[in-house]
Amino acid sequence: MSKPETGQIDSVMQEDRQFPPSTEFSAKAHIGSMDKYHDLYAKAKDDPEGFWGDCAKEELHWFEPFQQVMKQDGSEYSWFLEGKTNVSYNCLDANIEAGHGNRTAILWEGEPGDTRALTYSELHSEVSKFANVLRGLGVASGDVVSIYMPMTPELAIAMLACARIGAVHSVIFAGFSAGAIADRNNDAEAKVQLTSDGLFRRGKILPLKETVDEALEKSPTVGKCIVLRRAENEVSMVPGRDFWWHDLMAEAADVCAAEPLDSEADLFILYTSGSTGKPKGIRHTTAGYNLWTKMTFRWVFDWQPEDLYWCTADCGWITGHSYIVYGPLSNGATVFMYEGAPNHPEPDRFWEMIDRHKLTILYTAPTAIRAFIKWGDEHVEKHDLSSLRLLGTVGEGINPEAWMWYHEKIGYGKCPIVDTWWQTETGGIMMSPLPGATSTKPGSCTTPLPGVVPVILDESLQPVPANQGGMLCIDQPWPGMLRGIWGDQDRYVDQYWSTAPGKYLTGDNARVDHDGYYWIMGRIDDVINVSGHRLSTIEVESAMVSHPAVAEAAAVGRPDEIKGQAIAVFVSVKGAEASEDLRAELKRHVRKEIGALAVPDDIRFTEALPKTRSGKIMRRLLRDIAAGKEAAGDTSTLEDFSVLAKLQGDEE
Ligand code: WTA
Repeated sequence: MSKPETGQIDSVMQEDRQFPPSTEFSAKAHIGSMDKYHDLYAKAKDDPEGFWGDCAKEELHWFEPFQQVMKQDGSEYSWFLEGKTNVSYNCLDANIEAGHGNRTAILWEGEPGDTRALTYSELHSEVSKFANVLRGLGVASGDVVSIYMPMTPELAIAMLACARIGAVHSVIFAGFSAGAIADRNNDAEAKVQLTSDGLFRRGKILPLKETVDEALEKSPTVGKCIVLRRAENEVSMVPGRDFWWHDLMAEAADVCAAEPLDSEADLFILYTSGSTGKPKGIRHTTAGYNLWTKMTFRWVFDWQPEDLYWCTADCGWITGHSYIVYGPLSNGATVFMYEGAPNHPEPDRFWEMIDRHKLTILYTAPTAIRAFIKWGDEHVEKHDLSSLRLLGTVGEGINPEAWMWYHEKIGYGKCPIVDTWWQTETGGIMMSPLPGATSTKPGSCTTPLPGVVPVILDESLQPVPANQGGMLCIDQPWPGMLRGIWGDQDRYVDQYWSTAPGKYLTGDNARVDHDGYYWIMGRIDDVINVSGHRLSTIEVESAMVSHPAVAEAAAVGRPDEIKGQAIAVFVSVKGAEASEDLRAELKRHVRKEIGALAVPDDIRFTEALPKTRSGKIMRRLLRDIAAGKEAAGDTSTLEDFSVLAKLQGDEE
């Protein structure tokens, strides 16, 4: 009965709901109609150099103009050659020159409830001072600065200060272990470490400096460490190596001209976990990245000067780099930034802050949305969320049921939702609705942004027909693309450019429907192959989550003698007993929703799923567990080891 192996993936998901933008929203939007979108899209596709060349001249400040828009050399791409610009100048000086010095750049709230606001002029002065501090410690253009800090304004200040003097930042999420910091520091040959005494998380203090002390014992290239005082916990300072942030700042001049930097000067490295072994340091450079984040922020969030925009990510992830710091600030936006947990002191913290600050745009992750649903609607209903006008998601596919909850409970049915598909490697958003133009469909990231040319290929590299899943590739270079893997260009070529020569391999599967809408189906490695039918994890999971008792689900394949693979689903429930009856009911539910083929063979109830520190389900570990093996491979990105232990039965 098995089908010939073509590499195609069978789609079993049917979602017909559509949500067009309101006429009021469209009337004020930057891109207010599909005609305008099609026009921009055609221009960027047909004449990318003309299109991006014009955008770059208009949107960025140039100390020296570029001479060529794009150059390709094998799998290496350069943009805006011979031009000189500075990302920190574009985010700060340019806005002040445009008369926005007194506009709030960052409105910040700490977990204990303390708040601060920094105008563009104040941020400029802090960044200039800290740039002088870094120079004073011997940091020069091209040196790597490792940042392991809480979500405070100083984290953004540190990033912008590096950008100002051409230092390359490597931000490491402040939840990683000492070993993970040391690995990244050594790979990058970081020269200076930035950290804080501690940070607040769910009312407790996490002692960051202690972790850094341990990391620095194993980071021989790091000679200096700057420590921000945040939590006032005791720390030990190593004389000659460690300095207090406030001591150095007290002495620093607040004038530091932005250094004219080559368009292709490295702006940052950001480590992302490979599926096996060593984390990869994704490289992004100056001009192309800046342009991509600036344009996509304005298009996708339809940013307007009066908006109070909140992205709930941490600056330790690409979402924080591109859509807390560089994209919004280069547009002159006011960014709300929050330090702590979503459920401290109570599970209504997000809604309470949106209500109190009257925030207008919320950009968050599906994993957070599923947690809010599980915590109960009463926390949301206590607050007035009518200030919101736009919602966004990123990081994983959003299950249609979670999308509908977000739409109704948070957006009051009136806010467009932008489901943004992109990756650390792509620098910024690649596919997303344009909120004033696109009719959205729950679960679809809809259509590619101007300049993004996706293709979906089967394993013989042929384009697949509509509604067939296959490998998602990008067929045309774009300014925000990664430039390489730090110290390992061979791995870069091998990983991203060798499967389909000349095309960027995203590593995700997707299908496109008859309206030209894209549906991400999960990672290529996660496909489940049942009797020759290749099924998408996201589709099986969405069917499970559409049952009211299910909070979250993760589907994986396990070896099966007859079918090749059987489907195992790990399920966490809300407000229901995990029972045999529920198990049988869930199987019936999937059969009804998507058909017999996708009915899980095993359903395992669990309190929580193993996730990365950025909230993605680690299906790789679950595959091992479903197959009855010890979970192997890299677990350094796992957020909570006790979840894995429980699933493996180590605790019984
Ligand atoms: C997944 C995050 C479905 C996808 C910006 C991608 C998504 C990986 C979406 C990149 C989405 C991200 N719908 N899947 N809207 N957004 N992904 O590098 O598998 O942390 O390849 O970048 O997340 O994750 P990364």
